[in-house]
Amino acid sequence: MRKKIVAGNWKMNKNLEQTLTLLAELSAKLPDTKAEVMVAPTSINLLSAVRNLENSTIEVIAQNMHFAESGAYTGEISADMLLSVGIQTAIIGHSERRAYFGESDEILAQKVKAALTNNIRVMFCFGEELEDRKAGNHFAIVESQLKNALFSLDASAWSNIVLAYEPVWAIGTGETASPDQAQEMHAFIRKTIAEAYDSAIADQVSILYGGSVKPANAEEIFSKPDVDGGLIGGASLKADDFVDIIKAI
Ligand code: 13P
Repeated sequence: MRKKIVAGNWKMNKNLEQTLTLLAELSAKLPDTKAEVMVAPTSINLLSAVRNLENSTIEVIAQNMHFAESGAYTGEISADMLLSVGIQTAIIGHSERRAYFGESDEILAQKVKAALTNNIRVMFCFGEELEDRKAGNHFAIVESQLKNALFSLDASAWSNIVLAYEPVWAIGTGETASPDQAQEMHAFIRKTIAEAYDSAIADQVSILYGGSVKPANAEEIFSKPDVDGGLIGGASLKADDFVDIIKAI
């Protein structure tokens, strides 16, 4: 059985006090669920969040990490630094990192490799832009993003990878891929992995959908057979909305 996951990507939101307030609300309201629940606060608050959630089932994950072990990379955070504060999962490849910080497929391949080498689970994000979809190139773009960053990995690496399909046109726009569009792409992703590796790997990898998931649309999106959960931005910043999305799975 594939793992169901609901993760909140808080992006560059919430200072320390606000982080602790939101975590307290979430802890108090967390529904009983078999899904894994994760939150990704900004890096400066990771340690506080880990300490705050010591007795909780909510996992704190990082929004990013660098590929180098250490060295002259001002402002960056290494795998070892994440591990040392209790982080075991990192988001890699978010479209905002690709768009605003120049993270190419090649850089992302290095990051993925560094994370896995250090026993950090990877939540790998990818997805097409609006022009790609309008031009009918969305499948080709997604396939190349997967191939360039992930398909040189050994088969054994895949037990530590979670995928998050996030069409760029649906992120923070209020426009969501329809449940059928999400299902169509998730099924394509699974087929692409089955062709590159095998169907056992394709069947076990969790594929999350991200892009304007809200309480009002979560249940329908999550009901699709190849959608194993969601990576939630804006709606994860409000405890009640995030809790309702967790309930929807
Ligand atoms: P929104 O849910 O705000 O569209 O953001 C999605 C996202 O980018 C999660 O990583």
